[in-house]
Amino acid sequence: MKETIRLDGVTAGYRRGNPIIYDIDLTVPKSDFLAIIGPNGGGKTTLLKVILGLLTPWEGTVSVLGESPAKPRPAIGYVPQLIPDESFPITVIDVVLMGRLRNSGLFRRFTRRDREIADMNLDRLDIQDLAGLDMNSLSGGQKQRVLIARALAGNPQILLLDEPVASVDHNTQESFFNLLGELNSTITIVLVTHDVGAVSAHVKNIACINKTLISHGETLSSESVAKAYGCPFELISHGGIPHRVLGSGKESKR
Ligand SMILES: Nc1ncnc2c1ncn2[C@@H]1O[C@H](COP(=O)(O)OP(=O)(O)O)[C@@H](O)[C@H]1O
Ligand SMILES: [Mg+2]
Repeated sequence: MKETIRLDGVTAGYRRGNPIIYDIDLTVPKSDFLAIIGPNGGGKTTLLKVILGLLTPWEGTVSVLGESPAKPRPAIGYVPQLIPDESFPITVIDVVLMGRLRNSGLFRRFTRRDREIADMNLDRLDIQDLAGLDMNSLSGGQKQRVLIARALAGNPQILLLDEPVASVDHNTQESFFNLLGELNSTITIVLVTHDVGAVSAHVKNIACINKTLISHGETLSSESVAKAYGCPFELISHGGIPHRVLGSGKESKR
């Protein structure tokens, strides 16, 4: 199957009469690495909830791997937005093991295989040495890696990440995107962020959203950014914007 996620004319919200996202058409092909950018409050997390089947659209249709989204949810690895000061009184290895729960139900013991997969994903994210630590003792970037290891422990075909770089400093961002670039060789990735500067060269397509989809394609123009953010582009850029985002998009390595 070539399409992993497809939204046609999707309108959704939380209170009738107050749609948060409207008339969204979006197709994500297999192996894509899509960055969805847009301002805070623009509906990015709401869009992810629709894709996850947690929120049913009022209008339009959603399919994930050819089915309505609630069904293939085990095929989606979800990395939620980190909430500052949220307390996690749980060890790193237990968080990663939670990623195995949905593969075979809540009320069972973890098997040796589950533990092997959890360990393997700690290795993959280079956080083996954190296994026994309390989540509360970690930095934002380390927590983010743990949540990705948890998502990967479920062997997903699609990885959805909500604002994954918000709590990561610039140096860590680069290695973080290198990691996502590697994962993208086998997993379709959709990442949402309010930070235009956080779009890296590993990203293959960019969509711009502010309540509705403003643009979607390989490159991003300053006009569509200005339109999505409702302000001149200069106001929201803080350097660090990869040239490929604003250029033709053809010069970067794939
Ligand atoms: N559970 C909810 N109930 C009611 N309104 C919500 C809920 N979650 C988000 N919203 C509203 O939806 C709008 C878009 O939010 P969100 O999808 O979180 O945007 P983003 O992720 O782009 O910052 C905001 O105005 C927010 O207040
Ligand atoms: Mg959000």
